[in-house]
Amino acid sequence: MSVAHYFETMEYGAAPEADGEARAWLARHGATFGHFIRGKFVAPHSGKHLTTIEPATGEALARIAQGSSADVEAAVNAARTAQLPWAKLDGHGRARHLYALARMLQRHARLFAVLEAIDNGKPIRETRDLDVPLAARHFLYHAGWAQLQEREFADQLPIGVIGQIIPWNFPLLMLAWKIAPALAAGSTVVLKPAEFTSLTALLFAEIAAEAGLPPGVLNVVTGDGATGALLVESPGVDKIAFTGSTEVGRLIRQSTAGSGKLLTLELGGKSPFIVFDDADIDGAVEGVVDAIWFNQGQVCCAGSRLLVQEGIADTFRKRLIRRMDTLRVGMPLDKAIDMGAVVAPVQLERIKSLVETGVREGAEKYQASAALPTEGCFYPPTLLWNVHPSSTVAIEEIFGPVLVAMTFRTPDEAVMLANNTRYGLAASVWSETIGLALDIAPKLLAGVVWVNATNLFDASVGFGGYRESGFGREGGREGMYEYLKPKAWSGRKARTKASPLPAASGDSAGFAVPPIDRTAKLFVGGKQVRPDGNYSRAVLSPKGRHLGEAGEGNRKDIRNAVAAARSAEAWARATAHNRAQILYYLAENLSARGDEFARRVADMTGASGTKARAEVYASIERLFSYGAWADKFEGAIHAPPLRGVALAMHEPIGVVGVACPDEAPLLAFISLVAPLIAMGNRIVAVPSERHPLAATDFYQVLETSDVPGGVVNIVTGDRDGLVKVLAEHDDVDALWVFGSQDASAAAERLSIGNLKRTLVDHGLMLDWYDKAACEGPILLRHAVQVKNIWIPYGD
Ligand code: NAI
Repeated sequence: MSVAHYFETMEYGAAPEADGEARAWLARHGATFGHFIRGKFVAPHSGKHLTTIEPATGEALARIAQGSSADVEAAVNAARTAQLPWAKLDGHGRARHLYALARMLQRHARLFAVLEAIDNGKPIRETRDLDVPLAARHFLYHAGWAQLQEREFADQLPIGVIGQIIPWNFPLLMLAWKIAPALAAGSTVVLKPAEFTSLTALLFAEIAAEAGLPPGVLNVVTGDGATGALLVESPGVDKIAFTGSTEVGRLIRQSTAGSGKLLTLELGGKSPFIVFDDADIDGAVEGVVDAIWFNQGQVCCAGSRLLVQEGIADTFRKRLIRRMDTLRVGMPLDKAIDMGAVVAPVQLERIKSLVETGVREGAEKYQASAALPTEGCFYPPTLLWNVHPSSTVAIEEIFGPVLVAMTFRTPDEAVMLANNTRYGLAASVWSETIGLALDIAPKLLAGVVWVNATNLFDASVGFGGYRESGFGREGGREGMYEYLKPKAWSGRKARTKASPLPAASGDSAGFAVPPIDRTAKLFVGGKQVRPDGNYSRAVLSPKGRHLGEAGEGNRKDIRNAVAAARSAEAWARATAHNRAQILYYLAENLSARGDEFARRVADMTGASGTKARAEVYASIERLFSYGAWADKFEGAIHAPPLRGVALAMHEPIGVVGVACPDEAPLLAFISLVAPLIAMGNRIVAVPSERHPLAATDFYQVLETSDVPGGVVNIVTGDRDGLVKVLAEHDDVDALWVFGSQDASAAAERLSIGNLKRTLVDHGLMLDWYDKAACEGPILLRHAVQVKNIWIPYGD
C-alpha cells in the first residue's frame, strides 16, 4: 500500500487497545465469580452460574453467580452489620474512604476501561474518556459531601441499608452514581449489577476491599431479574434505588408499596433533540452524533427524537447523512471506532424489529454505509426520516443507534411535539438565539435540558426524570437528599386506630354554628359546587353533636377537580413574588376570621378554646412562613468542569393530590397545601374525613384572597376511597397521603399508571406544631422537581 493510497482513501488502520491485563484478571478468577459479600468473594448458595458473553464476538466471557434468596439475605445482613459502624465513622472518615475509591479508579483506569469495553461492547474511547473518569469524579465529588455532611446535612440521618439495581448500558458509571452518595451519607449497599455486565462491579468491589473499604459496606450480588426482585423484596432493605426499564420500575413500585421502603427510579426516555432554523447546523449535526450514536444509542437520555425546523430540514438531513457515512463501527477495543457492539443478541433483535415497524408505518430509512464486523451484535447508525408523531418508533424507547426525525414549523409546535411523550428525562435545544433557547428550556417537561449541547454529565449536576422517566435525582445536593432522611421525622409514632364515630346525639350546634346552609359543598375551579352524587355526610362533634354536613365527593368530582387544577396551569408561571403575596393575603384573611375558625376547630375536635386558638394561630403563621419561602426556596447555579453553567431550577411538579389527616385538621391542611402552592403546584385536597369543616370554611378565605380558580380544589368525603381515585388518575402528577397506613399503601401501589411521585406517612403521625418537622424545606423539597439546564459558553 503506498502513501499516496492512504492520502487518497484516508483510511484508518486498526488501533487496538491491549487487553492482556483484563484477560489476566479474568484468568486469575478462572473466569468464574461468586458474589462479593462482607469483603470477599463467596460461592453462590445454589451453586448456579450464568454465562456472560462478549458482545463483539459472541463468545463466552465469564460465569457469574446467580443470586438466590440465601445469597441476597447474606449480603443484606452483611450490609446491616456494617451500617452503624460506617455511619459512626465521622464525615471525614467516610470522605477518606471515598477519596481512596476515586484514586483507585484513577490508578486502575485502563483495566476498568478495557474490561468495560470487552464486557459491554462499547468503544474503548468512550470507556476511557467518559465512563471511568466520570465514575472517579463521582467518588471525588461525594467524598466532598461526606466531609461536609455534619455541617450541610446536620438535620438529616442516613437511611440504612440500600438495595441498588443497575442496568447494562453504563455498568461502572451507574455503580458510581448509585454507591457514592449512599456511602457518603452513611448508608451501606447491596448492589445488583445487570446480568449482561457484572464484571466491572466485581472488579470494583475487589479493589475497593484491597483499598481498605470495611467489609460489608459494599456488597455485590449478581444474577438476573429474579435476583433483583429478591433484593427488592428483602425485608432488611430500607431503600431501593433502581435504574432500568420503565416496565421493571413499575414492578418495583408495586412490590415496595406499603412496605415503608423508600424508592428512586431512573427509567427510560425518548428525549427530543430540537434544532431551530437559526442553529449552527454543523454543530447540531455533531450534536446528533453524540446524542444518538454515543454508546450505540443505548443511553436512557439519548436524543432519539430529532425535531428540525422545516426551513432547514433538507439541508440538515443531507449534512447528517454525510456525517453518518463517516462513522466507523467496529471492535470495541479499536481506539479509532465511533460505535461498538450492541450489548446482547436480544437487544439487537429488539432494535431490528422496531426499525422494521417504523418503516412499515411509513418512515424513510437511511443506514450508514459503515462496514460492520461479520460476527457479534452490530447494528449500523440508522436514521428514520418523516416519522409520524404517533408512529411506534416515535413513542417507544428503541435503546439502539436509531434516530427518528420529524419537522416542526413554530417554537410552540416544537414544544408540543417535544412534550408529546410519556417520558421526561432529557432534551437538547439548538439555536444561536439564546433568548429563544432559554424561553424553550423551561417549557420542556424534562429533568435535564442541554442548550446547544447534549449528553453532558457531572457529579455536581443532578440527573433524573419527569413523568414516566421516574423520580429522584442522582448527583448534586438533591442527589444526596435521596440517601438521607429528616431527623425531625425519625421519632414518629404509629397512629392508633381512630375510635369509631360517635352516634349522632340529636343536639344541634346551638348558637355556636352560624345560621346558614350547613351543607358544605365541594370547591372546584374556584367555585363551590354540589357533589356529583348529591350526597352528603354528617359531621359530628366528639360527643355526637351534629355540626353540619359535608359533601360526599366521588370519582367524577375528583375528575372535575383534576381538570380544573390542570387548566390553572398559569399558576406555575406566576412570579414567586405574586405567589408570596397571595399566601400572605390568605394569612391576613384567615386572621380576620380567626375566632370563627377557632370555634369550628373546638367544635369538631373537642379541643379547648385555647388549644383551638393556638391551632388557628399556628396556621396563620404557617401561611406566613410559606409566603416567606415562596420567593426564597430557589434553585442553584452549578459550575461543572466545562466553560459554562448548569442552572438547577426548582419547578413545580404539576397537579398534586393531597390527603389530610384527622389530627389538627386546620393546621395539617394548611401545612400540606401551602408549600405546594408556594412552589407553583395546583392541588386537589381531600381534607380530614372526620373534621372537614375547617377546610370547607376555608373556601371563603380562598375566594377573598385572589387565589386563582383551580389552584386549590377541595373534595370532601371518604378519604381513603378518594385517595385511590387520585392514585389511579394519570393526570395527577404527585400524591401526598397523610393520615392512614392503608391509604399510603394504596397510593403507592395504584400510582404506577403514570409513575406519580408519592409522599406518604405510612400511618406514622407528625406533630403538626413542630416546625422542624412540618414547616419549610422538608416539604418544599417534595413540592418541586429539579430541572438542570446546561448552558455552555463560547463557540
Ligand atoms: P431491565 O429493566 O430489565 O434491567 C435493568 C436491571 O433490573 C437489571 O439489573 C435486571 O437484572 C434488573 N431486573 C430485571 N427485572 C427485575 C425485577 N423484576 N426486579 C428487580 N430487578 C429486575 O432492562 P433490560 O431488560 O436489561 O433492558 C430492556 C429495556 O429497558 C431496554 O431496551 C431499554 O429500553 C430499557 N433500559 C433502560 C435503561 C436506562 O438507563 N434507563 C437501562 C437499561 C435498559
